[in-house]
Amino acid sequence: MQKIFIKTFGCQMNEYDSSKIKLLFEQKLGFSTALTPEAADLIVINTCSVRNKAEEKLFSLLGKIHKIKIKNPELVIAVGGCVGAQEKEKIIKRAFYVDLVFGPQNIHQLPALYKKIKKKRDKIINVSYPGIEKFSHFPPPKVKVPEAFVTIMEGCNHFCSYCVVPFTRGREISRPYQDVLNEIALLAQQKVLEINLLGQNVNAYFGVDNEAKKHDLADLIKEIAKIETIQRIRFTTSHPLNFSRKLISAYQEIPKLASHLHLPVQSGSDRILKLMRRGYTAAQYLEKIEALKKARPGISLSTDFIVGFPGETEEDFQKTIELLRTAEFDHSFSFIYSPRPNTKALTLEDSVSITEKKRRLGILQKQINLQAEVISQKMVGSQQKIIVTGSSKKGENLVSGRTENNRVVNFSGSKDLIGKMVTVTITEALPNSLRGSIV
Ligand code: SAH
Ligand code: SF4
Ligand code: F3S
Repeated sequence: MQKIFIKTFGCQMNEYDSSKIKLLFEQKLGFSTALTPEAADLIVINTCSVRNKAEEKLFSLLGKIHKIKIKNPELVIAVGGCVGAQEKEKIIKRAFYVDLVFGPQNIHQLPALYKKIKKKRDKIINVSYPGIEKFSHFPPPKVKVPEAFVTIMEGCNHFCSYCVVPFTRGREISRPYQDVLNEIALLAQQKVLEINLLGQNVNAYFGVDNEAKKHDLADLIKEIAKIETIQRIRFTTSHPLNFSRKLISAYQEIPKLASHLHLPVQSGSDRILKLMRRGYTAAQYLEKIEALKKARPGISLSTDFIVGFPGETEEDFQKTIELLRTAEFDHSFSFIYSPRPNTKALTLEDSVSITEKKRRLGILQKQINLQAEVISQKMVGSQQKIIVTGSSKKGENLVSGRTENNRVVNFSGSKDLIGKMVTVTITEALPNSLRGSIV
């Protein structure tokens, strides 16, 4: 039996794609999973190029894989995802032993391309954008866990000045409404309790149904909530501009919608937001989250920040810290600006030193950690609904799961609870997790 080894970098959409690649090879070509790259006939690297560091990870991994190929010349190496779409033939120029380069929209073609390579050892580069067609080629989902991801749209039309995604993932395109609902119905049959809807700009979803009528994200969430066994619905990642009134109202109407929202803001300075081409001011962002907090009191918010964008002054940075406090964020993914190919921001003058950027990032992270700690402490004594996802690493007879605001909770319980939703009283807030006891 042939074996596949997949290494995934980047966002949850890449994770979703990788799970589909695995299913495709299992079902179309009878592959099984290799536990190590050395045991594989095919190694797939699903890459990310959002920051330079993410891209560099690919090439350092390829160096190691080259050594495996020297020992096993029959090994096929495929590089895909966002670096694939961005670098195309340049990947093979830099790493001649790579056999296949593919983009995020071509993964359904992989089994056929693999067979072609096995027949005639040619190099293949396939990074075209055949629209949304890949989804209709995926086998039915197969999961063993109670939380599942479903990509509902791909690409982005925003063209923020720093971001590579519109170039690697293409323009926004939504999966048909019924297609998405069918996949979720199959997941529900496999005892999935939580659905996380994915897209680079997921709240721009606009999918047609069988009668050619269009439905937005709020419609979709409403429809999913009707499935009795589905307990929790999440979506990532949203853009503030596409965050509609209707979606805010959904938080009032649909209790199954998790009390947590990830809404990237990037900066608190209007001057920087403009240079980033985000299309909103800090005040407009805050207005949206105020409305949201009214619709769903107690909702937890997380965000993304870019620190050290070209020309960011101390004053700009202080505005970011101010916004971080005002919005009462619970968590953030924050990174130093990384210049990316093809993007507008490449032409901006960047005079802030890396030492200064690191200092700012440190301050920002310290502040967010402080806020998160306060929120964790406030949760002590509260009751939380937890989907039990597995045994805890913290000790025997402990199981764990996450709260709606994404905190890991460990508590006593038998393994029979895995896959079920339980109510837990939070008893203690530790630095990276919570302790609880089942009600
Ligand atoms: N579509 C989402 C985010 C997608 S990329 C949004 O707009 O909100 C995920 C995050 O990576 C971004 O929110 C941003 O904070 C970060 N990012 C993107 N490009 C970057 C760059 N060139 N340098 C540093 N961080 C970047
Ligand atoms: Fe990138 Fe901006 Fe699109 Fe997000 S909205 S994926 S940051 S271009
Ligand atoms: Fe990375 Fe592409 Fe996702 S750049 S973050 S893998 S969309």
